[in-house]
Amino acid sequence: MLDTMRGRISAHLKQLDREPMSYQQEVNKRRTFAIISHPDAGKTTITEKVLLFGNALQKAGTVKGKKSGQHAKSDWMEMEKERGISVTTSVMQFPYKQHLVNLLDTPGHEDFSEDTYRTLTAVDSCLMVIDAAKGVEARTIKLMEVTRLRDTPIITFMNKLDRDTRDPIDLLDEVEDILNIKCAPITWPIGMGKEFKGVYHLLRDETMLYKTGMGHTIQEERIIKGLNNPDLDAAIGSYAEELREMLELVKGASHEFDLEEFLNGELTPVYFGTALGNFGVDHMLDGLVEWAPKPQGRQTDLQAVSADDERFSGFVFKIQANMDPKHRDRIAFCRIVSGKYQKGMKMHQTRIGKDVRISDALTFLAGDRALLEEAYAGDIIGLHNHGSIQIGDTFTWGEKFRFAGIPNFAPELFKRIRLRDPLKQKQLLKGLVQLSEEGAVQLFRPLTNNDLVVGAVGVLQFDVVVARLKAEYNVDALYEHVNVTTARWIHCDDAKKLDEFKRKAEVNLALDGGDNLTYIAPTMVNLNLSQERYPDIKFLKTREH
Ligand code: G4P
Repeated sequence: MLDTMRGRISAHLKQLDREPMSYQQEVNKRRTFAIISHPDAGKTTITEKVLLFGNALQKAGTVKGKKSGQHAKSDWMEMEKERGISVTTSVMQFPYKQHLVNLLDTPGHEDFSEDTYRTLTAVDSCLMVIDAAKGVEARTIKLMEVTRLRDTPIITFMNKLDRDTRDPIDLLDEVEDILNIKCAPITWPIGMGKEFKGVYHLLRDETMLYKTGMGHTIQEERIIKGLNNPDLDAAIGSYAEELREMLELVKGASHEFDLEEFLNGELTPVYFGTALGNFGVDHMLDGLVEWAPKPQGRQTDLQAVSADDERFSGFVFKIQANMDPKHRDRIAFCRIVSGKYQKGMKMHQTRIGKDVRISDALTFLAGDRALLEEAYAGDIIGLHNHGSIQIGDTFTWGEKFRFAGIPNFAPELFKRIRLRDPLKQKQLLKGLVQLSEEGAVQLFRPLTNNDLVVGAVGVLQFDVVVARLKAEYNVDALYEHVNVTTARWIHCDDAKKLDEFKRKAEVNLALDGGDNLTYIAPTMVNLNLSQERYPDIKFLKTREH
């Protein structure tokens, strides 16, 4: 499958690339985005259709179908297959209409929010998918809060119009009220459920008619130009007149699309359709490649870096162990912020202050991987990690800056982890350190005993860790209660005061997976008392890498 897929993509790219492109043209044609949604809204289904349009799959049905026992190409792990959730972040690159699109898949389950947050730092825009029968749901609200931190531009897709949905005007009102973003409908639905007839494109003045039963292929849509075209009455009967009346209202009452407001994250273009019926997804993709920003620069601790800069820089937002059981390795996902990756190039890894030569970076296509010759700002490349790369690491052309804003969150749940077979202690530690580097869980090693304390943001993480330790490291581990309620990272500029604190509070101190000093508190009262007692010590709830 890899060869044919790659073959089709490279044929497409060759066609685009008759003339070699300049650096700027390469960057300009890229769009890097992620999908945010509440579980079950249709993210997986949309991903599958997007890949179909991107020529990366021949038939959408070949990818997913929990019922048929197949699983989405973006769901790699056994765990996901069993539970029907995405626990990994995957990256998919595909061409679409003169552009090159990078879609970053985000874990769907609430428990994996840390990973999701970090992934959202690596994109330039988001597609928000809403189940039109349900409206705005909890997880969408949470994810929108995260996109707000960087004012990421949002495109909206109202999904499942082939079912009985809420009134479209109510849906837009709800998005505006709850998510505090203006809505500019780009398409407007005609009917819903069994009576779903298609959508009218407000900017193109065209009606696209929906045909059922075409979900696995790219539909040859029938398009009727002009709202007053009698062909429209012939095609959809009384719905045509209703549509005309409705649009009078909608045009008067809704916001018009405004590119600047969209780019500032203040307004979202809204599309309607059905991912299952593969209708409307391409309308949305057209909007995405036209309006969503090309790769954007990022802030660092020393300077701003622009994507127009041809010198290489990037940051690691995700590490994943054993992505492919055949390869048994760890991959660091690096978002290129500026410049171009070329096979064999030298990069400066600022955290360790060393130059590294990289000749085996990978590119991804929904779980398949290939060696990469070159990549540009906006792309995600996979770096083989033999233990020297951590989440948040910055790679540059030689400068010493570090990209800002890739957080670790203090876990809220703790357990002691222990082996069933005590001979495998080394393997257990190796597995835990790797899983913590990857962000799957956090590990704390108390300074005064040999416990291994696992900390998680969500309860499901514990199960994932034990399952992965068994599958990938062949160790059987179990959990025990541990007397820890909360953790804070410790910071103090005054070395003397820090030493004194370390001596006095030793029983509550631990090192995390990256060897950072952490205070692990048995109770919140204990934490509060320590904070009062040591006013010069900072107890931090998040740690920026
Ligand atoms: P998620 O990744 O956001 O969790 O959602 P996913 O795509 O898995 O979709 C959740 C369910 O909604 C699936 O049904 C899927 O088939 C269905 N779905 C997605 N888009 C549409 C749509 O446009 N119309 C309708 N009617 N259904 C849609 P399921 O029964 O849970 O799974 P499956 O067994 O069909 O795979």
